Amino acid sequence: MKDVPRGTCGGRSEAHSANDPAIALDELAHRVAGEFRRRFGRSPQWLAAAPGRVNLIGEHTDYNDGFVLPMAIERYVVMAASPAGEDGMGGDGKSVRLHSSAVHEPERFRVGDDDFRQLAPWARYVYGVMVGCREQGLDMPALDVLIDSTVPLGGGLSSSAALEVATATLLEAVTGQRLDPIAKARLCQKAEHQYAGVPCGIMDQFTSVLGQAGQLLLLDCRSTQIRMVPLTDPEVEVLIVNTNVKHELTGGEYAQRRSQCEAAARAMGVASLRDATLDTLRQYAATLEPVLHRRARHVIGENDRTTAAAECLARGQWAEVGRLMYASHASLRDDYEVSCEELDVLVELAQQHGSDGAVIGSRMTGGGFGGCTVSLVRKDHLDRLVASIASDYLRLTGIVPTMFTTRPAQGTQVLPQPVE
Ligand code: GLA
Repeated sequence: MKDVPRGTCGGRSEAHSANDPAIALDELAHRVAGEFRRRFGRSPQWLAAAPGRVNLIGEHTDYNDGFVLPMAIERYVVMAASPAGEDGMGGDGKSVRLHSSAVHEPERFRVGDDDFRQLAPWARYVYGVMVGCREQGLDMPALDVLIDSTVPLGGGLSSSAALEVATATLLEAVTGQRLDPIAKARLCQKAEHQYAGVPCGIMDQFTSVLGQAGQLLLLDCRSTQIRMVPLTDPEVEVLIVNTNVKHELTGGEYAQRRSQCEAAARAMGVASLRDATLDTLRQYAATLEPVLHRRARHVIGENDRTTAAAECLARGQWAEVGRLMYASHASLRDDYEVSCEELDVLVELAQQHGSDGAVIGSRMTGGGFGGCTVSLVRKDHLDRLVASIASDYLRLTGIVPTMFTTRPAQGTQVLPQPVE
């Protein structure tokens, strides 16, 4: 049931306490370039980065044409590449040799020609995006590629979207051609649908492409219009706590939630749950299957909470933002049924600390069934809070949580060559 607790990802500590400190992007780029040289015997010619994301509120709304309020985080996938070396499978202009710092066995494939099911799951994302880029006319040479990441895997912080988007940005650098940013996010989303079998919405890839430093993105997933909502109050920190559990038995739950939403929308005669209101739901209360009623109630309420939270954030109405975050969590737990005991424990612990002003709000983030919580916390309480959550969570669950704070980060970028 439980993953082994992750260790820290190493590197220098941040000024404030957290037991999973970040390493800066330039340091990570340096590490990737060094590893590339060790594995391939020459320097990489191109480097690209893409961040993970955390969603402040607006969960399981993206595939219902609704609203989300995510931000990119200071955790990245970095990829380095050069044209294939003599011992590569070069010559046909399509071969890729892929190393990951986390995995010893390299993967090799010919873009578009190989059966992707033969590849390790992590390599399928890269393969899928490369096929998509080629379809968009990005004609790449044979490549040697090295990947490293500081986005926790399986933690609900979009490590897979970061890998997809980093791949697309790398290919833009390699080919010198640019994709339209929204088309790029969609291409990455399509790769996840087709090559990883997850019918995800657009939030993760969109945020990894379009994230901006200091800003939350209020994204209308129907029109793809964004409104930037600044999150720059120096007294407020975004704290991410990883339950360090991932409940594997729930693989099909995401797709099931999505089809339940579609069934609820059909039953109410609307194109998607975005078009339903609580009034619509009341009209169908007697005829809608109870489980569909609960799913729809979550999505309709969550859309309202998300736009309201964006307004309150913009006005600095923190107490209301907190109330909306807790309401979102309760709805995900009770109506959408995607939380789990460990996430509930973390949110309850945070809420207990709220009474003395340390925590503004807290909720599960991402798909659910494990992964992380996101909390808005007061900076001057942070050290004490982190220490007490760590010991209480360990006492209650037997698991060591990992935690870090992050500012809203810039989206994907091509990186300069690090100085050797
Ligand atoms: C996963 C998906 C997203 C979104 C969230 C839930 O992260 O990839 O598209 O649906 O779950 O909000």
